[in-house]
Amino acid sequence: MPIKSIKNIKNLKGKRVLVRVDTNVPIKNGKVKDDTRIREIIPMLKFLIQKKAKVILVAHLGRPEGKIVNDLRLDPVAERLGEILKKNVIKLDDFIGSAVVKEIAEMKNGQVLMLENIRFSADESPSTRSLRGDSVEPGQAGIKGTLAKKLASLGDIFVQEGFSVCHRADASVVGVAKYVPSYAGLLLEKEIKSLNQILNKPKHPLLAIIGGAKLETKIPVLQNISRIADAILVGGGIVNTFLLSLGYEVGASLVDKNHLAIAKKLACKKNIFLPLDVVVGTRDGKDWRVVSIEKKPHRICEPDEAIFDLGPVTIEHFCVSLTTAKTIVWNGALGYFERPPYNEATNALAKMLASVSRKGVFTVAGGGETLEVLAALKLTKKISFVSTGGGAMLEFLSGKKLPGIKILEK
Ligand code: 3PG
Repeated sequence: MPIKSIKNIKNLKGKRVLVRVDTNVPIKNGKVKDDTRIREIIPMLKFLIQKKAKVILVAHLGRPEGKIVNDLRLDPVAERLGEILKKNVIKLDDFIGSAVVKEIAEMKNGQVLMLENIRFSADESPSTRSLRGDSVEPGQAGIKGTLAKKLASLGDIFVQEGFSVCHRADASVVGVAKYVPSYAGLLLEKEIKSLNQILNKPKHPLLAIIGGAKLETKIPVLQNISRIADAILVGGGIVNTFLLSLGYEVGASLVDKNHLAIAKKLACKKNIFLPLDVVVGTRDGKDWRVVSIEKKPHRICEPDEAIFDLGPVTIEHFCVSLTTAKTIVWNGALGYFERPPYNEATNALAKMLASVSRKGVFTVAGGGETLEVLAALKLTKKISFVSTGGGAMLEFLSGKKLPGIKILEK
């Protein structure tokens, strides 16, 4: 169903526009370490500033779980945002209350103001609301709806720009949209359009590269994408559980014994490709060897060894597969990439993805580790679309309707 877009709203002059953004960025010693998510919201903010709106930002940082945590205040984010915008960003130490109302009443057209970390409120997320015995229903807004209603009262309209938080049924994501006219922001629309290009009528061959450590979080994506993809290449820690489910001995490798049955079912699908060889070794990366994976289950690792990367034959094979695709989506590292030499597969596939993108293949990448690798290799800009969503991207690709998007439907 189509969603309401902020682009279609004509007169924004003097309007108080409450914008939910996801500026959940890494901070070290009071400074933003990676400002990608802040940069991604700049076009939306410039659009509103140019239209002379009063821009009120609602954001979170980390998971303070309803408590005030000084290290999770949004001051470094507001400071970095101001530097990028070349404009003063007023930062408040609260998100509701009379002082906030007064500051907003004094705002001039085109000004930008950032409220304090909304997760300092226990009414924000269902998890902290449940601790108080309050409603955890998606879209419910906390005790008597107070937080969502109060937030909504701060704006004339609400814009959802934080795709990466749209899978959370939080007061500032879903609740607020019930009380004030609400629209999708520019980044949110871009995310939806690009990810829909994977799910709806993608150009075939469609290839997915799925890695990462936690199988549980990848199962819904694997199930949904396997219905439409021509091939899914599997790497990362999740491979270990697949191999174990098929009867291979994987020693001390990280496995998820709770999902062996479903792993076996997925591993037997014709379009899901497991590695042909793997690198096994010690965690410190000092001692390692390549082991071929034969058809008949066998011992891959000794009891004190673990699988840490894809082997050279698999890397070659996967890289060649990428050259045959017209659409590719990648989520999750393919090995223990933080510890060389176990970064071979992840780096090789990242470079190949960038290379085929240059040749016109539509490529999409997302997820914290995936973006970290692309940034470290300076390849981020070479990918057709890089999603800001981690969990949200996975849920979207699983075919779920994200509550923060559903509430914006016309
Ligand atoms: C993210 O970093 O993916 C989003 O900000 C959501 O964070 P959360 O998993 O803590 O809800």
